[in-house]
Amino acid sequence: MNIPASPRFLMCPPDFFKIEYEINPWMNKDVQNDRANSIAQWKSLHSLLKQLGSEIEEISPVAGLPDLVFTANAALVYENRAFISRFRHSARQGEEPVFTEWFEKHDWNVIRLPEDMSFEGAGDALFCGDTLFAGYIFRSEVQALNWIAEQIDKRVIPLQLTNEQFYHLDTCFCPLNNESAIYYPAAFDSYAQAALQAQIPNLIEVEPAEAGRFACNAVVIDKQVILNTGCPKLEERLRAIGYQTHATPLDEFLKAGGSAKCLTLRLNA
Ligand code: ARG
Repeated sequence: MNIPASPRFLMCPPDFFKIEYEINPWMNKDVQNDRANSIAQWKSLHSLLKQLGSEIEEISPVAGLPDLVFTANAALVYENRAFISRFRHSARQGEEPVFTEWFEKHDWNVIRLPEDMSFEGAGDALFCGDTLFAGYIFRSEVQALNWIAEQIDKRVIPLQLTNEQFYHLDTCFCPLNNESAIYYPAAFDSYAQAALQAQIPNLIEVEPAEAGRFACNAVVIDKQVILNTGCPKLEERLRAIGYQTHATPLDEFLKAGGSAKCLTLRLNA
């Protein structure tokens, strides 16, 4: 019998999570996160994923790297390969050696992109079926996305992002299965919208208010969807097509421009 492996995720406890700089429109140094509440929200997400049958690997937090909690940006993982991010902003570049070391220690085949290409991992590169959907402009560059697609011999669909509030692809697009995804159309240019419509048969549109609650930044485990609170319409639509939804408060992380999906990196398919 073929027993499917449990989903595995990489997470980083928020011990040093703070708003220390401003590199996206959500971040404002005058609006700091509450430390105790950040830890409580992170722990609730962690235990929810465990309850749903996941295994969680933890990377140790590092003082001075407040955004290390957003492990979706560590790398793009494909089979046993980890394509380590090259962050656009110097504020996050100190995370690269930390993530590199973790992947090396855990026996991944670690791959560094050419130096002149910025790329922010699973934040901007998501598989839907066998195709790699890749967001660019704010953080990742199209050359980097093409370079990776060539290395793994996959088709890539580059999607130009247009709204700085939705600066990573995973803030406005979330594959559910091979033919379905959630998305926020206004975050994409018209070519990207047309490409998504042409490639993905079932697209669920998120409305602006819920997109602003990072509805698209959801973690999907089979028929389970884990997302921030405040997205009741999307939850209702998902339930109507057979998904179970699990809302968990993540407002502290929204202050840095992240939510459920950004706080996790799926390590197996
Ligand atoms: N403050 C972080 C940044 O601006 C948030 C990253 C959110 N991650 C994500 N995968 N969308 O880089």
